[in-house]
Amino acid sequence: MGKIITISNQKGGVGKTTTIINLGYALSLLEKKVLIIDLDPQGNATSGIGVRLNDSQPTIYEIMMTNLDIKSALIKRNNIDLIPANIHLSGATIELINEPNREYKLAKALDKIKDDYDYIFIDTPPSLGLLTINALAASDEVIIPVQCEFFALEGLSQLLKTIKKVQSSINNKLVLNGVILTMYDIRTNLSKEVYEEVKKYFEQKLYKTVIPRNVSIAESSSHGISVIEYEPKSSGAISYMNLAKEFLQQVSIEV
Ligand SMILES: Nc1ncnc2c1ncn2[C@@H]1O[C@H](COP(=O)(O)OP(=O)(O)OP(=O)(O)O)[C@@H](O)[C@H]1O
Ligand SMILES: [Mg+2]
Repeated sequence: MGKIITISNQKGGVGKTTTIINLGYALSLLEKKVLIIDLDPQGNATSGIGVRLNDSQPTIYEIMMTNLDIKSALIKRNNIDLIPANIHLSGATIELINEPNREYKLAKALDKIKDDYDYIFIDTPPSLGLLTINALAASDEVIIPVQCEFFALEGLSQLLKTIKKVQSSINNKLVLNGVILTMYDIRTNLSKEVYEEVKKYFEQKLYKTVIPRNVSIAESSSHGISVIEYEPKSSGAISYMNLAKEFLQQVSIEV
């Protein structure tokens, strides 16, 4: 049975989308069947894997707001499948407010497709609003990318509180898969200090593999491909391959 994993952090620009695209691609190279759900109105996961939407292509917005079958929105690209998003999704938060079961729209849609994949990753916007709640409600696990910077842990208590709230009231099977440090700079003491600080807080939940700050990663997303395709020998590509191997060894325990 497929495992559904949300990648979330309400801080913007910490590497959520980059991690979805590259971890997803790395896992597909390891023979896993991967689906990416773009649940961010910015549509960065969609454009980041090189998909340009035309007007007739259904997106996750239509899937959540109507009874349209999720398979009608499926886009296949190389080894990875995608349910795309675009700016229309920004209306969903308001349109869903008075709907019954508004937190479960995504979970319901994914039920029909869950068993077709090994892993389904959900990319969330930088907020803890209804879209992120839908993602957490639909998921078995959550991964938190944390950018290596001075206030790395700032705001995380709010995210953990949200996860706990979802666990107790909406989805009690949800567990924390792990925390991934992104944009790690081996030349700075700050990165080492942040690693130690996050390690103290999350202990064995922190992935040993860190994702370095690497220009090939940034360039690859503007080309609409993973860094593994773009520059397979780069430190970014090697790290995401290592992350995928560590991910497959990960055993989930509760937050
Ligand atoms: N390890 C890295 N090295 C260099 N650049 C990176 C790295 N990871 C991400 N980036 C770049 O940083 C920017 C932000 O990354 P990304 O879009 O993945 O963050 P995000 O958390 O999804 O942002 P948002 O909250 O807006 O959705 C992008 O331009 C991306 O290419
Ligand atoms: Mg993003």
